[in-house]
Amino acid sequence: MDRPIWIFATNNNHKLEEARSILAPFAQIVSLKEIGFFEEVEETANTFHENALLKANAVFDFAGKPCFADDSGLCVNALLGAPGIFSARYANPTGPTDHLANNQKLLKALQNETDRTAYFITVIAAVGFSEEPLYFKGEVHGKIAHTLKGVQGFGYDPLFVPDGYEQTFAELGETVKNQISHRAHALQALKQAILH
Ligand code: IMP
Repeated sequence: MDRPIWIFATNNNHKLEEARSILAPFAQIVSLKEIGFFEEVEETANTFHENALLKANAVFDFAGKPCFADDSGLCVNALLGAPGIFSARYANPTGPTDHLANNQKLLKALQNETDRTAYFITVIAAVGFSEEPLYFKGEVHGKIAHTLKGVQGFGYDPLFVPDGYEQTFAELGETVKNQISHRAHALQALKQAILH
């Protein structure tokens, strides 16, 4: 039987690979570029749930096919959960995302802190799978390193050391990350709910 088409409302290749590594046996995961959706959906809401739903709804209205979107971020305990929903825009609130500047700003914010614990969170909103939107959450806990290490992944990966490991996500690479990441947990939950 042909696999159904599920749109993942992203053009981030790292996220696409993570989703495909978990869902490809069951569904064809297509990106925004592949469906010709080039609009920038503003993340104007105050929660991960609402921001994910904004993206999923916009793409579902455009394509009319089952679609899911994620909104993710890094929450640092000593910073009371910052940068949180502002993770992409942490160093540059009004301009484009600058991952290196974000990492440098985070190191500076933590320079006098002894508590370096943090977690990544993802909320997936899935639209078009049932009458109401479905939500799936995933988290991975760990700590923030003192220097950037590793070249794989994206975003805060060079600073994030997941619990149970000594290396950052950027050093560990996608095979490990795709098993334990916040997004992997949320994608597994989506898979289980939709495919039973
Ligand atoms: P997004 O809104 O889901 O694209 O995520 C917002 C920001 O959170 C990204 O620009 C990254 O800075 C950070 N982020 C989300 N997921 C990850 C990840 O898996 N690794 C590193 N950083 C991430």
